[in-house]
Amino acid sequence: MTNPFEEPTLEQLRRRTSMKWRAYPADVLPLWVAEMDVNLAPTVAAAIHGAVDRGDTGYPHGTAYAEAVAEFASQRWQWHDLDIGRTAIVPDVMLGVVELLRLVTDRGDAVIVNSPVYAPFYAFVSHDGRRVIEATLGIDGRIDLDTLEQAFARAAGSGGKVAYLLCNPHNPTGAVHTVDELREVAELARRFGVRVVSDEIHAPLVPPGARFTPYLSVPGAENAFAVLSASKAWNLCGIKAAVAIAGAEAAADLRRMPEEVSHGPSHLGVISHAEAFRSGGIWLDAVLRGLDANRNLVGALVDQHLPGVKYLWPQGTYLAWLDCRQLGFAEHAADGLAVVSDLSGPARWFLDHAHVALSSGHVFGTGGDGHVRINFATSQAILTEAVSRMGRALSGVQ
Ligand SMILES: Cc1ncc(COP(=O)(O)O)c(C=O)c1O
Repeated sequence: MTNPFEEPTLEQLRRRTSMKWRAYPADVLPLWVAEMDVNLAPTVAAAIHGAVDRGDTGYPHGTAYAEAVAEFASQRWQWHDLDIGRTAIVPDVMLGVVELLRLVTDRGDAVIVNSPVYAPFYAFVSHDGRRVIEATLGIDGRIDLDTLEQAFARAAGSGGKVAYLLCNPHNPTGAVHTVDELREVAELARRFGVRVVSDEIHAPLVPPGARFTPYLSVPGAENAFAVLSASKAWNLCGIKAAVAIAGAEAAADLRRMPEEVSHGPSHLGVISHAEAFRSGGIWLDAVLRGLDANRNLVGALVDQHLPGVKYLWPQGTYLAWLDCRQLGFAEHAADGLAVVSDLSGPARWFLDHAHVALSSGHVFGTGGDGHVRINFATSQAILTEAVSRMGRALSGVQ
């Protein structure tokens, strides 16, 4: 199979009307929001065409999506006890997360996140009246268990219920949490009475060398929840759907989720996501091979063109975290909650001077300043041109 990232041409990509390709002028190379520059997996495209041909565009129904995820989880992750009876379809991962947090916390309660982390974690949690407490990652971009323990203790001590929104694998550092790390997380969560919601949207994007561990497969995690989706790995984020899964001890909580939440995902989303998990494995393997090559290419390009920038090699996902603090570009963050498209510091500078759009580190919370996130789910030519442009811009000022 050909490399999916080498299929669409730049001209074809520029005709796309989604956020990645429309938010900036045509001379900007967009390596920011988490969309992939691929054509659809053929079996997924066929499933969508089939539904359209049948006029099959009503409300979603049934458990086909969860069944496809269970089959995939059993084959890829040796997670054999995903119980379909403890699943619900939800509109997308973030709205699923919000609905799950509503089941186990009340307004004013604390939700812990590991900053720097996917920016909408802040916006969605606070919009729903919960307080975000940050437990910063270690300098290696991984969960720091001592810091997490302190955050759990602080939140539990302040009264009210406490939840922890785990990003597994982690966006933006690409850390793939190990089974030992997750066991310790589960042990801490039990000790402090913290309910865990694990966002596993990037799970299928873990290459064979870095094993993904579903949080619910870890002993002690039975009272937790996970949310999975085909949205990132098969580039279906514009065709909305996701699956929420409860551990055995959280089943009763999940049953309290309003039935109407399951009317939110689009039926085409459910059809295409289920098909992706069911038959999209070969295509996904080609994506993973392409990402491995790109992960190495970005490392080499940063070494060659961006002296002073540190590349945190991502184990999983198609996102990489670049530490640009040595470049000394000042941050001028907007007041209040940052949104994904806010730009400051190095991301602002590279947009203005190199015409490359990256995600700005400051929107990922504490620890994000002075960093940028680069999305490498694109062709090698685009990556090479983008990082070379960044290098040329820097050498102009150095
Ligand atoms: C960690 C994480 N969670 C959730 C999302 C968004 O998922 P959805 O569009 O299904 O809400 C993203 C998108 O990049 C993400 O990286």
